[in-house]
Amino acid sequence: MCGIVGAVAQRDVVDILVEGLRRLEYRGYDSAGVAVVTESGELTRLRRLGKVKELADAVAEKPVTGGTGIAHTRWATHGEPSERNAHPHVSSNITVVHNGIIENHSPLREALKAKGYVFTSDTDTEVIAHLVEEELKTAGSLLAAVQKAVKQLHGAYGTVLLDKTDSSRVVVARSGSPLVIGLGIGENFIASDQLALLPVTRRFIFLEEGDVAEITRHSVAVFDKDGNAVEREVHESNVSYDAGDKGQYRHFMLKEIYEQPHAINNTLEGRLSSDSVLDETFGNGAAELFKQVKHVQIVACGTSYHSGMVARYWLESLGGISCNVEIASEFRYRKSFVQPNSLLVSISQSGETADTLAALRLAKEAGYLGSLTICNVAGSSLVRESDLAFMTRAGAEIGVASTKAFTTQLVGLAMLTMAIGKYNGLTGAQQRELTDALKSLPAKLEQTLTLAPQIEALAEEFADKHHALFLGRGDQYPIAMEGALKLKEISYIHAEAYAAGELKHGPLALIDADMPIIVVAPNNDLLEKLKSNVEEVRARGGILYVFADADAKFQSDATMRVINVPHVADILAPIVYTLPLQLLSYYVAIIKGTDVDQPRNLAKSVTVE
Ligand code: AGP
Ligand code: GLU
Repeated sequence: MCGIVGAVAQRDVVDILVEGLRRLEYRGYDSAGVAVVTESGELTRLRRLGKVKELADAVAEKPVTGGTGIAHTRWATHGEPSERNAHPHVSSNITVVHNGIIENHSPLREALKAKGYVFTSDTDTEVIAHLVEEELKTAGSLLAAVQKAVKQLHGAYGTVLLDKTDSSRVVVARSGSPLVIGLGIGENFIASDQLALLPVTRRFIFLEEGDVAEITRHSVAVFDKDGNAVEREVHESNVSYDAGDKGQYRHFMLKEIYEQPHAINNTLEGRLSSDSVLDETFGNGAAELFKQVKHVQIVACGTSYHSGMVARYWLESLGGISCNVEIASEFRYRKSFVQPNSLLVSISQSGETADTLAALRLAKEAGYLGSLTICNVAGSSLVRESDLAFMTRAGAEIGVASTKAFTTQLVGLAMLTMAIGKYNGLTGAQQRELTDALKSLPAKLEQTLTLAPQIEALAEEFADKHHALFLGRGDQYPIAMEGALKLKEISYIHAEAYAAGELKHGPLALIDADMPIIVVAPNNDLLEKLKSNVEEVRARGGILYVFADADAKFQSDATMRVINVPHVADILAPIVYTLPLQLLSYYVAIIKGTDVDQPRNLAKSVTVE
């Protein structure tokens, strides 16, 4: 979950490390730390509770220098956020940063204590430092010591270690948490996300599961889980350098909301002909596979799960096949029935979500025809481990609350529906209609974003509320769920979503003037049903906020505020109606003064269970 940066260079690396942490802060932000070692073996460690800024201020006050160093921004799993629990952790000569969880830390801690090691933190991470120190007594090199130590670790780790008696190298290991090596000229780097290293390089090696690597200024040696020396491909990154900057926007989240028309344009580019989805869109061999698919099983978490829920409506109504969607953390721990000719689809912004990855790995054994991931991060674990990958091209998403990743996922899923549907009764005319609709989407989103001032004004009415209900029907039900999640995440207002028809089966009891009800109401064939549900709420004194197609003919009055959303084709409605809900949660959070980009207790990339 956390951010890791490391460097082996001749120049002083402290500023590179701190800038890297700043770019990774979205991943974890309860404390931060840096440790650098000079050629003469002098180690300086600086740690601070709170955000990277605290650490940067501390570095400015007490300048530290060193050409080899490691740094970390933490998302605590074991031990409260505090300076003593902040990484790097030290065991005499060994210094370590770690992303993930060491599940067997208790027995290891006891065994190491019995050998005389003294623990100074409550983290699981500290066992790695002492264990490597212990192995170093017999191993002969830091690399060999780390190779022996990781064999004893259960759980997930991305870890970087340095030995202050030899500043020429760092050793890194990955299992379950991502690590990427950045290649420079006469200097090399390591990070948990390439974004951290874009100011210094564009050439990257993505480590694979079980890899251990030794990095010096002039060399990178990678060993697989069995200790064999291996060559890993070097990738040239095309992620923009500015991806880590907010530009003119007050928050990353707002920037990312406004980037959606552009992100969707990129996602569509080169993938649509004049009347259908191009065969190459889902990669080599996709067409052969899709011809055989009769069922889709989707696994995902959080916002990505919501896009999967929308896709179920599309795949069953347009794609002509059955579809199940399940939260990955549930799917991975139950025995599920695999329908004949099933395709497993994972959806993830980061491509590193531990539960989603575990679900994919399980499915590999379970008899699926194949796997496809809809993902935003090239080179991520899900992309590497799936048979097929559809890249969402949303660009780096920094705000913890997912926005453009979600809407670009929906675009990918609409194209998947078309690509599978054409073998299952989706007619040429329908494909043409859907193609035209998708092409019109960026412009519709631009139009929708002009609602921002109206939504900002509306937000005032939510700021003192403690609860909110979101209602939708059909493929708008998952959009209501996504709206509720956004509001919860960044404004800390308790929000729930209901399929509007379900209201009278319980939640109607909650309705009073203190419970705002947000309704998403495109003009589709469920509109009349939805209108009846709206009336049920009005009859009980509820205050409604309705995002509706002008043709739907809702009228604002004392108990109902109506915001008209541009008229769009049915397939686009879930995407278009997402935007006002994102803006609403953003403006409510601004009024409440919460930390929009880094809401409390959360982290962007959930690489632990
Ligand atoms: C969304 O706003 C969330 N912060 C979260 O639910 C997220 O969507 C979830 O953790 C899944 O992440 P992924 O898409 O990177 O797999
Ligand atoms: N489990 C470690 C800790 O609690 C690492 C957490 C992280 O990934 O930031 O310190």
